[in-house]
Amino acid sequence: MKGIFICIEGLDGSGKSTQAKLLTKKLCKAGYNAVFTAEPSQGKIGKLVRKCLFEKERLPTTVEALLFAADRIEHVKNTVVPALTEGKIVISDRYVYSSLAYQGSAGLDLTWIETINANAKKPDLSIFIDVAPEIVLERLKRKKSVMENLQTQLHVYEIYQKYVARGELKKIDGAKSKKDVLNALYAEVVCFLKKNRV
Ligand code: TMP
Repeated sequence: MKGIFICIEGLDGSGKSTQAKLLTKKLCKAGYNAVFTAEPSQGKIGKLVRKCLFEKERLPTTVEALLFAADRIEHVKNTVVPALTEGKIVISDRYVYSSLAYQGSAGLDLTWIETINANAKKPDLSIFIDVAPEIVLERLKRKKSVMENLQTQLHVYEIYQKYVARGELKKIDGAKSKKDVLNALYAEVVCFLKKNRV
């Protein structure tokens, strides 16, 4: 059986986690066998990375990039591949484009980030939930992580847009209502699944 691997990308506060979860539910309701997962993952390295994100001092960026890449290998091996092998549709909240956008925004060479992620399974479909950096920062009411400042988010947004322009990331307007965003996301995914005869 062949599953389908979909990743959802976006800025912090873009609503992508909520949308990825709602999308998974909506697909299941429609009879698809979909599962939700996320990065940083629930594995050992993922938990460590998440903890570091809320510490005062940011890790050296190369260390950050390597940790995210290591977490990804664990995530793919333990969660993504087993679900795909069972023929499931795997919806991942963040994946390699997050490393390109976030660690790239901190000055790392994008080609090097691609190299350390070269063994990560390629997603079948990658979607960017598009909300402007100024809007997402206003939305974030909780304690902000080391990534959640305007300068970082502006740069992260710029890099994501590069991949949108290249056609690698499919853009969904995330500034609309929660329901409208979900409907647009669902329509995009179902269209892809039908094209791929799922
Ligand atoms: P989250 O808020 O979507 O759970 O993600 C946590 C933070 O981790 C978010 O600020 C983005 C950051 N991140 C990276 O910097 N690189 C990565 O490769 C991933 C997966 C997340």
